[in-house]
Amino acid sequence: MSVLVVGASGAVGGAVVTGLMARGVEVRASSRTPEKLALPSEVQVFAADLNEPASFAAALESVDRVFLYADLAEPEALIAAFAAAGVRHVVLLSSSAVTFPGAAEDFNGSRFIRVERAIEASGAAYTFLRPGGFASNAARWSWGVRSESAVPLPYPEAVQAPIHEQDIADVAVIALTGDDLIGKAPVLTGPERLTLRQQVDTIGAVIGRPVAVIEQTEEESTAMLSRYLPEVWVRQIVKDWREAVGATPSISSEYERITGRPSRTFRSWVEDHADLFR
Ligand SMILES: NC(=O)c1ccc[n+]([C@@H]2O[C@H](COP(=O)([O-])OP(=O)(O)OC[C@H]3O[C@@H](n4cnc5c(N)ncnc54)[C@H](OP(=O)(O)O)[C@@H]3O)[C@@H](O)[C@H]2O)c1
Repeated sequence: MSVLVVGASGAVGGAVVTGLMARGVEVRASSRTPEKLALPSEVQVFAADLNEPASFAAALESVDRVFLYADLAEPEALIAAFAAAGVRHVVLLSSSAVTFPGAAEDFNGSRFIRVERAIEASGAAYTFLRPGGFASNAARWSWGVRSESAVPLPYPEAVQAPIHEQDIADVAVIALTGDDLIGKAPVLTGPERLTLRQQVDTIGAVIGRPVAVIEQTEEESTAMLSRYLPEVWVRQIVKDWREAVGATPSISSEYERITGRPSRTFRSWVEDHADLFR
């Protein structure tokens, strides 16, 4: 039996493929554009789109477990296809947004809730990984850091506990290679609370030159983000920053409990991705 990693081109999905291979697991990988994947030849690669359940038919043959992204419109049909193909366990990259008050009415929380519910209703075993904000969101600042040594922000004092994508992948690999995390839904965060300003300062410290924060109004930030992100995401990002000013987000110890290792710091994420900012 093998494991299918959906979204093998993704930051988390790619790290899951690597982690499974290191454990000697037979891995299959899927992408909407598999020709772009650069994976070792022993990984069988398939073209599949989460919004076209039938496209998974070949990829699912003899697959026992699936690592899944939640970026899909009609989860019920896809999960039914998994069940029909005999998938025993689905490990979903969900979000801590599902645990927030009012999540069912929130654009971001509700889309993950819908996928979680579809998996629960299918009767398949599940693990829902519920990370908070990713450290990789700072990659959006790379252009400003490289070109102007500056990051424009409307709420630099917003507080987050950013998580390294490798930490999420580590937990996914444990979930996909044993039964201990079946039925579990760990909330995963980074190990420390940092304001956006402190994250910018950390980038400067790692690349060896100061990076300034340029304070923007919410309107300026919205207009800037709208150049490369859909409006619904721009609204969500700015709202999350606004609400995070002065917040004390919970720090989860789940990564350490599950893996036996301390979770990775934001600084380690910047060090791992320093070329983005140089
Ligand atoms: N950013 C945050 O703070 C945060 C917090 C909590 C949860 N999340 C969730 O984490 C995920 C992002 O993780 P990441 O950084 O690893 O993402 P990423 O690097 O942007 O990769 C996204 C992956 O999803 C796959 N994908 C997207 N739509 C697909 C579709 N229709 N069919 C098949 N595959 C599809 C892509 O595959 P192909 O393009 O190769 O097909 C790609 O491999 C999102 O679901 C996001 O909502 C993010």
